[in-house]
Amino acid sequence: MSETSPSQILVVNAGGQYCHLIARRVRELGVQAEICSPKDAADQIDQSRGIILSGGPSSVYLSDAPKFPLSLFDGTVPILGICYGHQVLAQTLGGAVRAGQTHEYGKAVIEIIGHDTILRGVPDRQTVWMSHGDEVVTVPPGFRVLARSESCGIAVMADLTKKFFGLQFHPEVTETPCGNNIIENFVFKICHCKKDWKVENLLERLKSQIRLQVGSRHVLFFVSGGVDSTVAFTLCSDALGPNRVTGVFVDTGFMRKGERQEIESTFAKRGWNNIRFEDAEQLFLDAVVEIADPEEKRKRIGETFLKVQRKVETDLCLATGAWMLGQGTIYPDTIESGFSDKSAVIKTHHNRVAAIEKMIEDGLILEPLRDFYKDEVRSIGREIGLPETIVAKNPFPGPGLAVRCLCSTEEFHAQTPNAVRDVARGFGLNAWGIPIRTVGVQGDHRSYSNLVILTGEADLPVYSEASRKITREVRGTNRITFLVSLASSEAVGNAKVQRKFITKDRLELLREADAISHKMLENEGLASDVWQFPVVLLPLALDHGETIALRPVSSSDAMTARHANLPLTFIQRLGRKLMKLHGVDMVLYDVTDKPPATIEWE
Ligand code: XMP
Repeated sequence: MSETSPSQILVVNAGGQYCHLIARRVRELGVQAEICSPKDAADQIDQSRGIILSGGPSSVYLSDAPKFPLSLFDGTVPILGICYGHQVLAQTLGGAVRAGQTHEYGKAVIEIIGHDTILRGVPDRQTVWMSHGDEVVTVPPGFRVLARSESCGIAVMADLTKKFFGLQFHPEVTETPCGNNIIENFVFKICHCKKDWKVENLLERLKSQIRLQVGSRHVLFFVSGGVDSTVAFTLCSDALGPNRVTGVFVDTGFMRKGERQEIESTFAKRGWNNIRFEDAEQLFLDAVVEIADPEEKRKRIGETFLKVQRKVETDLCLATGAWMLGQGTIYPDTIESGFSDKSAVIKTHHNRVAAIEKMIEDGLILEPLRDFYKDEVRSIGREIGLPETIVAKNPFPGPGLAVRCLCSTEEFHAQTPNAVRDVARGFGLNAWGIPIRTVGVQGDHRSYSNLVILTGEADLPVYSEASRKITREVRGTNRITFLVSLASSEAVGNAKVQRKFITKDRLELLREADAISHKMLENEGLASDVWQFPVVLLPLALDHGETIALRPVSSSDAMTARHANLPLTFIQRLGRKLMKLHGVDMVLYDVTDKPPATIEWE
């Protein structure tokens, strides 16, 4: 979001998953922050009081790594380098960076060995969030090491004269509890910024931006009933008047149980008459026939949305040039689709397919929420008077249950790497490698790796620790589950991945399992412990049925997440209930954080 006054903190984007989160953390401190690309940074430093170099997926020693203008490092403006930014500081100023012995993803403990303003208020031993493969091995001249972790000798370094600081970990994510403290020290104690950013004016500014961008055109919105599209649609209706905004609810057949009815009644209660309903179930089923690859699935669903859009456009007689397409895109949707030219594509979101990209270039797309995170969107929703039933809703992906209904083009049996088995044994567990691939994000890169099922009796923290150790130590693993339903370890070893695609029957089974899971969570008062609860159907058979995987997570912004720690007794009771559904052979519980696994399996 561009502001009228210049920003005090410049966040230079090296393509990291968390770059916008850094700017947001600074804004939360009441200080304006702007994001820019490395090539534009030199032009913008004059007005800045401090520079933050973000993380990114590249390695500083590769020829295509993002390069930062040398003028940034002349010592006139303090710098905080984060992860890749920390490595850039080291390499640019005469230190050394190398590929690390082990890739560190997830929690680590740092120990402070040198005190300075940047670490004021930070306890001597602290948990932080790491996500890196490379590490700084020699600090540049003039730098000191301020903190180290067990596997990273230079976790914090500083040149106290020039006020240059490097952090190997991510202070911007909630999993680094002292992170805000460090950012606050940098912003106020080191850069001496003044508070100049207020949220009160946000709504008016957003509405005037909408009016400016839309001009005299009309806006067509596809409203899913989820938080993002409903807030965006309502905001636009407020800004332009409901007569110039049309909402279309497309029934894709990939919705949750009772969703359409709920949406119908919610909108009717608000007295809106600018929403229409479009039945397109068969069209969407046809689009994903025999498709197993998640990226292909997402692309086809995106293209089908566009087909439906064109039909609606014709039905509504909207002439080209007189309308725009409104979308409820929020910030995490853009970054995981590789929004910045240096970001790795983790998942193509349905609103970032090629045809939409072309429309963005042509100025035909309106995305008033594209700079915001989910919780910020909820605040905006409350501010514009939407009911809690909508603003507090669990997020649901645009492609819906289609990306939770996993498919396979071939049949497979378990193939367990010895290394996985060895780590599991250390925890008194058995492990099975299942050739069903799911998406992960490791060191800012997309991964697409096989699943692991742990079997054996243990408490949740034990499965969790085993999961962390396996994904950290065994390359090619990104998602670990444990077996909830009772089946012998041998039986799991004989489980078979079946050739299956998306069908109406499979969707119906998944819809039912999803409804049962959410209802039980709510009835037992556990819903507030969970940020999102994907339920996933896998073509993995013991008998002739399939497998249900439970993926409840806690998160604040979807950029990082922890698997939810629901009581084991609840998980087992839910497992028994799901096993009673016709066609369910096994129930699994996902014990992987993000990173290394994404929240959705595809
Ligand atoms: P991942 O799986 O990438 O998900 O960790 C992060 C958040 O984004 C949601 N998600 C989507 N939302 N269109 C959306 O509108 C999509 O294509 C899409 N894919 C994932 C996901 O549910 C989670 O909340």
